[in-house]
Amino acid sequence: MGVILLDRDLHILHWNTFITQRSGKDLASAIGQPLVTVFPEADTPRLAAMVDKARDQGLHAYTHWREDPYLIQLPYGPQGQVNPLRLQSTLLFPFESDGQRCFGLLLYDTTEFARSNDQLAAALNALGSKQQEQEQLIRKLEKANAQLLQSEKLAAIGQLAAGVAHEINNPIGYVFSNLKTLSGYVNDLLRLVDAVDGVGSLEELQQLKRSLEYDYIRNDVEALIHESGDGIERVKKIISALKDFSHIEEEEFHLADLHPGLDSTLNLVNNELKYKAEVIREYGDLPQVECIPSQINQVAMNLLINAAHAIETFGRITLRSGHQDGWAWIEVEDNGKGIDPSILHRIYEPFFTTKPVGRGTGLGLALSYNIVQKHGGRIEVSSRPGQGTRFRVWLPLRQPGCGEPTA
Ligand SMILES: Nc1ncnc2c1ncn2[C@@H]1O[C@H](COP(=O)(O)OP(=O)(O)OP(=O)(O)O)[C@@H](O)[C@H]1O
Ligand SMILES: [Mg+2]
Repeated sequence: MGVILLDRDLHILHWNTFITQRSGKDLASAIGQPLVTVFPEADTPRLAAMVDKARDQGLHAYTHWREDPYLIQLPYGPQGQVNPLRLQSTLLFPFESDGQRCFGLLLYDTTEFARSNDQLAAALNALGSKQQEQEQLIRKLEKANAQLLQSEKLAAIGQLAAGVAHEINNPIGYVFSNLKTLSGYVNDLLRLVDAVDGVGSLEELQQLKRSLEYDYIRNDVEALIHESGDGIERVKKIISALKDFSHIEEEEFHLADLHPGLDSTLNLVNNELKYKAEVIREYGDLPQVECIPSQINQVAMNLLINAAHAIETFGRITLRSGHQDGWAWIEVEDNGKGIDPSILHRIYEPFFTTKPVGRGTGLGLALSYNIVQKHGGRIEVSSRPGQGTRFRVWLPLRQPGCGEPTA
């Protein structure tokens, strides 16, 4: 650090060896000279302002190297080599000596500091561009994530398709093999009928009938036709459920009173219910709900049929409704056999069923879940094995972006 002592008129009194070394000037010839004569470059408005502050106000005056890289030029390095010291912070302060007002001028070499400052700035800059890189990376990740979601959706569709193929394969398989057997039977029967015109005696015809095992054919034909009908029925059910899956977005949402829809659904499934349960309606106060009513009826139907299937002999099914805080709910409760906790998390999976082959496709709840989700709602289930099950469907009264509920 350089120190220059000045009298009240800014004449040089003394300086330290730092100044001698760095300025290359001789102290002895400088003493008594005005500062700006020895260092003409210091004669600046900045120095005038510092002097003003220190002499007239008695304050410390400080300059920062950023505002003013140098006050006086010090062209040499510590070993006398040419190495201009241009970055200086300076301090001019007043003090008293033997009753005289004097000044000290301190010159800090901030070259190193400024250099590390530059390095810091460069490092910060590098960090900034690193951050940009990271942001870019995050954007890429987000994009990849979206693609992944898309491919997951595709995978889910693939899974559904594989499930459908598997489910349809079985009934189609036996309908096909039944058809083959039936065509063999029809051949035999046609032979028998054709023989009617050609045979000589009734006995001959009876003989042919016995040899073709007519009694067996007769029994089997009925069974085969019945079984094939069941198989086709099953395929039809799967196809109509799939159609519902794919048409979910086609219909428009509109305001509807759910109760008439629930009543007509009850009528529709009455055949399935009436031998299994007494149906109790406990409708509450239900404002109009913005929904696709046919889809909601479909959900109610699935829940009602499930409830009936859960009842082993004869039980009770209760259909309730109500609303709360901008949400409508409908509820189907049965006192059937309940759902085992170990499978509770699987009931919404497509093709998950505990029902015997031919009875359930396992699409009912999967479809219902899908519909309710499209409505922005949710399904709650609570079940106690041996006691019964309660499904509650919550639906928002209004779809987002369509104004406030008026309920
Ligand atoms: N109310 C209920 N009581 C007991 N178990 C139920 C009830 N509702 C659903 N389940 C269980 O959830 C499973 C899945 O139901 P889901 O409606 O999806 O298929 P499913 O009824 O078996 O066949 P589908 O409805 O396609 O004819 C059922 O097989 C059954 O084990
Ligand atoms: Mg079902």
